[in-house]
Amino acid sequence: MKITTAKFITFEGIDGCGKSTQAKLFREWIISKGSKAILVREPGGTKVSESIRDILLNRKNLELVERTEALLMTASRAQLTKEVILPSLEQGSWVITDRYADSTLAYQGGGRGLSVEWLKQLNDFATYSLKPDLTFFVDVSPEEGQKRRSGVDDRIESAGLALQQKVREQYLILAKEDPKRIIVLDGTASVEVIQAKIQREIEIFTAKSAE
Ligand code: ADP
Ligand code: TYD
Repeated sequence: MKITTAKFITFEGIDGCGKSTQAKLFREWIISKGSKAILVREPGGTKVSESIRDILLNRKNLELVERTEALLMTASRAQLTKEVILPSLEQGSWVITDRYADSTLAYQGGGRGLSVEWLKQLNDFATYSLKPDLTFFVDVSPEEGQKRRSGVDDRIESAGLALQQKVREQYLILAKEDPKRIIVLDGTASVEVIQAKIQREIEIFTAKSAE
């Protein structure tokens, strides 16, 4: 396969679904094909965005309300998009992100109950209207996600399984709305099987874009 044009690929899913594992393997695979690729996480990925991440995930910030949460998530995204993602794409590097705009629709929309339609507008502002070329949604049940997670739960994880269930349902709605961009992967398959499926989808996508 010849990879010529840099693409913007995002990984999504509930907490503990296995998306970071897949994003890392995917970056290595793109690099092995001779292309440049960076991997960044959200919220975070720049100095300012990592500071915002600390506020968002700190378990001590119990008073943080859902609108503040949405605004901080998207503030972190605006900084990351302008400072890292857009310049990297312009320089011909693939950009892979561990979460992006769909996380806000799923968590602050589906999970916290804010208007998804309004959050889409907020995302449009925060992303400078940039859309991922492809998004991989790694789908597992909240119970499976919880089993896989290690360490102390952060502020959002401590909200429990009911939140994760609502988040998962919203991801599935988004995938139905935009099946060309959002690819649903069975996250209960092995790491290798999931990665092979991702690579195949990318090959199909890059072949189509070269037509
Ligand atoms: P996330 O980024 O979604 O929180 P990670 O990629 O960090 O998830 O994975 C969470 C845990 O689950 C890690 O210990 C990882 O090794 C394990 N894991 C990842 N993918 C799978 C899989 N397909 N099957 C079983 N365990 C997995
Ligand atoms: P992180 O430790 O990166 O979790 P994970 O490994 O599951 O990605 O924590 C990020 C948390 O922030 C996670 O619970 C999802 C949440 N989040 C939102 O609620 N909205 C968003 O827009 C983003 C980017 C993340």
